[in-house]
Parts: sequence; C-alpha cells; structure tokens
Amino acid sequence: MRVLLVGGAGYIGSHVARRLSERGYIPVIYDNFSTGHRRFIDRFEVIHGEIADYECLRHFLKNVDAVMHFAARAYVGESVLKPREYYATNMTDALTLLNATVDAGISKFIFSSSCAVYGAPEQLPITETTPRFPLSPYGQTKAAFEDALKSYSAAYGLKFVALRYFNAAGADESGMLGELRSPETHLIPLVLKAASGHSPAVSIFGNDYDTPDGTCIRDYVHVNDLASAHVSALDLLIHKGESDVFNLGTGTGFSVLEVISAAEEVSALHVPRLILPRRPGDPPVLICDGEYARKKLHWSPQRGLIEILSTAWKWQIINTAVGAESAVC
Ligand code: UFG
Repeated sequence: MRVLLVGGAGYIGSHVARRLSERGYIPVIYDNFSTGHRRFIDRFEVIHGEIADYECLRHFLKNVDAVMHFAARAYVGESVLKPREYYATNMTDALTLLNATVDAGISKFIFSSSCAVYGAPEQLPITETTPRFPLSPYGQTKAAFEDALKSYSAAYGLKFVALRYFNAAGADESGMLGELRSPETHLIPLVLKAASGHSPAVSIFGNDYDTPDGTCIRDYVHVNDLASAHVSALDLLIHKGESDVFNLGTGTGFSVLEVISAAEEVSALHVPRLILPRRPGDPPVLICDGEYARKKLHWSPQRGLIEILSTAWKWQIINTAVGAESAVC
C-alpha cells in the first residue's frame, strides 16, 4: 500500500516514513522543502510539490491509497503575529489537499492535529471530549481543519483519523533524524544547545505559574512513539474504516526545570539558564489522558523523558558534525 506523506520531509513526517516502511507500507514524500530536509527522506520516492497545487496533487494522488497530512505552519507564538499566513497554509492550502484527496477517490486520511486545540483547559488530564477552546490562530486552524474533516467524512465518505499530539520531542535512535528548525523555539533542543555551549543559556519563560516549581508543565511524547501511532491509525482505517480522533501523549507532565535537570543528567553537563517573564499564550499545564488511544488504537508510548533527551542529545551531537560538513559542500 502506497501512502502519500504531505510535508513528509519534516520532523514528524520523516520519522513516520521510516516506521511505515519498516511495517511494509510504501511512503511517498510530497514536500516543498520550505522547512523539510532532503537528507531525512532520501531513501524514499520524493515529489517536490506545493499543497496549494491542486493539479500536481491530483496527478500524484492517482497512485496512492492513503494520505497523511503533516504540512503546516507550527509556531504558536508566530501564529498570533501572522494569522493570515497560518490560515492560508493550515486552512486554505490544506483544504486544497483535502479536495484533491476526495476528488481522487481516496478514502483514508490521517491528520496531524495538536493539543493546542484545547487551549488552557482546567480539567486535567485532557481527554478527547475536553471542550476545544484554542487560544492561538495555530490551534484555531487545527480545530477548524478537524471540523472540515468531520463534514467531508459525513458528506463524501472520507474516513479520517485526527491525531492530537502533545509535545513531540526526541529523535530517531539512529541519530540521523531529529529536530532541525530555524529558528528553533522548542524547549528540548534549546536546553541541549545550552548544555553543549552552542547557545549561551536557556530562557525559562516564567517561574511564577501555579505549579509545584513555578514553571510550565508539558507532556513530552517521543517522536518515534508518535510515528508508531500513525501506523496504528492507518491499520485502524484499513481494518475498521471508522473516523476517529485521538490524543497522543504519555499522561505524565514535566516542568521546564525538571526537563533541564533531566538534560543535565543525560548530558552530564551543566545547563545555564535565565529566568524571563512568561511567554504570552503559554498554558500552565498540559497533560494528556491517553486511555482512549490505548484502548481503541492499541497504542501507548514506549519511551519516557530520559529516552527523549538521550536520543535528542545523540542527534544534536551527530547533526552538529553533519551540519558542518554540508556547510563546506
Ligand atoms: N519554554 C521555555 N523556554 C524556551 C522554550 C520553551 O521556558 O526557550 C517553555 C515554554 O514556555 C513551555 C514549554 O517550555 O512551557 C514547552 O515549550 P515549547 O516551545 O517546546 O512547546 P509548546 O508547548 O509551546 O508548543 C508545542 C508545539 C506546538 C503544540 C504544543 C502543544 O510547538 O505545535 O506543543 O503543547 F501545539
């Protein structure tokens, strides 16, 4: 079975491509390489295309059986400043993909959603039925696209799975894939850069939250566990043919300070830090209830914070060396 991974050269898509291939599926990467990396997916069939290009999509959708959609703008803070770009890519362009998929007669669609659809819920842990009140344009576009999927499912027979990721983190155990963004804004890569001296200090955005140590708590889930969830979601669509929505997280939250301590343990290096004011829009605590995914998707994460940090650390060491080589080329 051939699966089109739209945005498949990015952080999560490239890990999913490897996992699909290990499980006997054929990943076909469709990416415009605005943020993706060729070296992450060079062993697979690759199409350089835009998700806004209906004709190009229709052409390549002729030869696939399912679609996974990863191509999105994904910086929460940036989305507040540039909602127009976020609505254009995450809604308008994504609807072009969805229309092309339905028009091509493909009925299996897997969507990268986010726990950002929930906003800052008071009820914890967060279940799939926790009301969605997204606080940022990023979260709003994810919620709106989920709604489009429901409507298309009802009207056109599309079957979809929306996967609401909590905080994706870590790297492939090979050390050959990992987080590589510019600019980097995510906590774990920034903490590890500070440990290795590649940045002066990590900023802690607020230590006056109503949490045990005053810093924000997140549910960090390993990217290869997320990758396995995509394979399980595809298996579910193939065998059950029912649309559904799942939260993907571990059920355990770690504060910013706990992440820094664990990074010091893994790297055996000190992480210099700096307390700054709160970052606007950050919910104090986000923790996933993964019970529904465990029961219905038969998925639960196999890796914890230490595996996340040790794989991310290995990736950072290898990638720093590889990055230097490509700069010379
Ligand atoms: N943080 C810092 N210093 C930094 C970076 C982050 O203290 O330099 C803190 C943040 O304030 C937050 C936590 O670390 O409390 C995690 O921040 P990230 O930027 O790593 O991740 P976010 O939780 O903001 O966002 C990520 C994804 C989103 C997704 C969200 C779901 O980027 O796409 O998780 O929680 F929607």
